Amino acid sequence: MEFKHKSVLLEETIQGLHIRPDGIYVDGTLGGAGHGAQICARLSAQGRFIGIDQDQDAIVAASERLAAWKQAVIIRSNYCYMVQKLAGIGIRQVDGILLDLGVSSYQLDEEQRGFTYRVDEPLDMRMDRSQDRTAADIVNGYSVQELTRILRDYGEERYAPAIARGIVAAREKAPLTSTGQL
Ligand SMILES: C[S@@+](CC[C@H](N)C(=O)[O-])C[C@H]1O[C@@H](n2cnc3c(N)ncnc32)[C@H](O)[C@@H]1O
Repeated sequence: MEFKHKSVLLEETIQGLHIRPDGIYVDGTLGGAGHGAQICARLSAQGRFIGIDQDQDAIVAASERLAAWKQAVIIRSNYCYMVQKLAGIGIRQVDGILLDLGVSSYQLDEEQRGFTYRVDEPLDMRMDRSQDRTAADIVNGYSVQELTRILRDYGEERYAPAIARGIVAAREKAPLTSTGQL
């Protein structure tokens, strides 16, 4: 599937980074490199761009898009390891960091990723498919309290307690294995 994603606040983000042509810039949520390509286009040969994403599909799409820029280094990782990953390539200080948090349109649209209930598919939802734990493991295994915390803190869901109780009641009849069931 083609990697389609319209970059959010593209102009504003690029302006806000105040890019110096010889600077070092990091995108911790590279996706298809919509923002990344604009950063690279503003760098001289002395500048550097490091793009990080935990989704292998994003890494493939971004690698193609940024292939012409020798300043670009692409790393598959969770951005929580950014400091260690940068140190690994000799970078201890940077001029700007971008985080465009959330899912990409590609992840929502691509079949079998389990991010959407528009189609009924396995309840996966892993951004990093080298990890074992799926959304199905979580909704079928976590307590009401843990599910409430996830929905409330990460989803800002006001009905989190009721939804968590609903999930636990439903899974007592049969495990939830598809996005449609959830
Ligand atoms: C909204 S998209 C980024 C789109 C990108 N800015 C562009 O314009 O093409 C978010 C990306 O962040 C990645 N992502 C989300 N959380 C991450 C994390 N903790 N570590 C690394 N990548 C993450 C997702 O896999 C997804 O590709």
